[in-house]
Amino acid sequence: MTRPNIYSPEIWNDPHPFYAALRREAPVSQVEPGGMWAVTRYEDVLYVLKNPQLFSSEGFRPAVQPAWLQQRNPVADSILMMDPPTHTRLRALITRTFSASGVARLEPYIRQSAGEIVDGMLARRKVDFMAEMALVLPSRAMSALLGLDPSLAPRFKTWADAVTGVGIIPADDLKRRAELTGYLDELTHHLTGVLELRQREPGNDVVTDLLQARAQGGSMSDDELLGYCVLLLVAGLETTYDLLGMSALTLADNPDLWARLKKDRALVPKFVEEVLRFHAPSQSTIRTTTQETELGGVRLPKGATLLVQFVSANRDESVFPNAHRFELERTGSPHLTFGQGIHFCVGAPLARMEARLALEALLEKCERLVREPGPVTWNVAITTRGPAVLPLELLPA
Ligand code: HEM
Repeated sequence: MTRPNIYSPEIWNDPHPFYAALRREAPVSQVEPGGMWAVTRYEDVLYVLKNPQLFSSEGFRPAVQPAWLQQRNPVADSILMMDPPTHTRLRALITRTFSASGVARLEPYIRQSAGEIVDGMLARRKVDFMAEMALVLPSRAMSALLGLDPSLAPRFKTWADAVTGVGIIPADDLKRRAELTGYLDELTHHLTGVLELRQREPGNDVVTDLLQARAQGGSMSDDELLGYCVLLLVAGLETTYDLLGMSALTLADNPDLWARLKKDRALVPKFVEEVLRFHAPSQSTIRTTTQETELGGVRLPKGATLLVQFVSANRDESVFPNAHRFELERTGSPHLTFGQGIHFCVGAPLARMEARLALEALLEKCERLVREPGPVTWNVAITTRGPAVLPLELLPA
């Protein structure tokens, strides 16, 4: 029997029926590409995330450092792809910067940016929300956080797409391979320059925090330092882009939800949480088994690659009542879109804040969001999913 390919349009365009069937019939089973083991039930996903000694994050590396790629993909040297004790040592260096109070320093700037972006969209009325808001707001947040030149923001997505795209381009697409290689060179060159600059002239940004942590005895190689910066840029952009896109799509398609939020802004954080659960902008992560082990009744060999599916766990009917209904008033088990355990998303407070501020600006300044009826085109990336374009008409309040 041929294995299903999770990136095929039949599954990618509407993944939920496929994962519901796997949860019922084959909760840990092999899929394409690469014969990875899809882990689909909430309980098993949690078990994998909470047991890094059995399920290593090193398994992520081949997905971003394929054999054909001659140069180093900087993200391959980042904490996302490391296990303890190296992961523990490096992660500790930025915990303070990303605490709720650390992130709150960015709030006035992000609120102002969100307001300006909505004003600009209202002036034109018909816009592609992905290009105008979903890309621009996280790019500005990442410029401020990392101390990057904001005029380079249009390059950020190109770079992020290259970092995550090298693992999934078809073997015969030599043109695209050459393009992505060029973007990786550009990214490495640029961030190396930023690191050199901040070494000479410290700023008020994460790059400076990392350099200071290293100077104060936190051991970190040059590759690890660069990997850190690249991971932050990629992790902070791609995922938040999809979260903002899924939020706007949900509100445009559900005028009743829009009306509820417009009446009661205190519901916005709950709405964001439910978008995170329901649509899982970060669909999955990757692990490899460190030894032969059993999971969900299946015997896995040592070295098996697991595709740990948040997109499926978040809809597990045994954990979430009415799992396939979008409900604001949820209590109980948390969604897994930010992961769990030692790799839990460092940027979760920032992502939540960006989404809240973008939605507050839209709700304040717009009467409604209107979408052309019809199917959505989805972007295809290793672990994230969201609309590729989202044409909306913004009606002013
Ligand atoms: C909606 C937005 C976001 C989602 C859904 C998301 C999701 C995730 C997930 C699932 C992980 C864990 C992966 C694993 O266990 O293998 C993770 C890790 C991480 N995220 Fe996020 N993320 C988002 C936004 C951000 C932002 C804004 C930043 C930073 C600016 C960020 C930085 C990181 C970092 C550095 C890690 C690695 C943590 C570690 O390995 O210990 N993320 N994220």
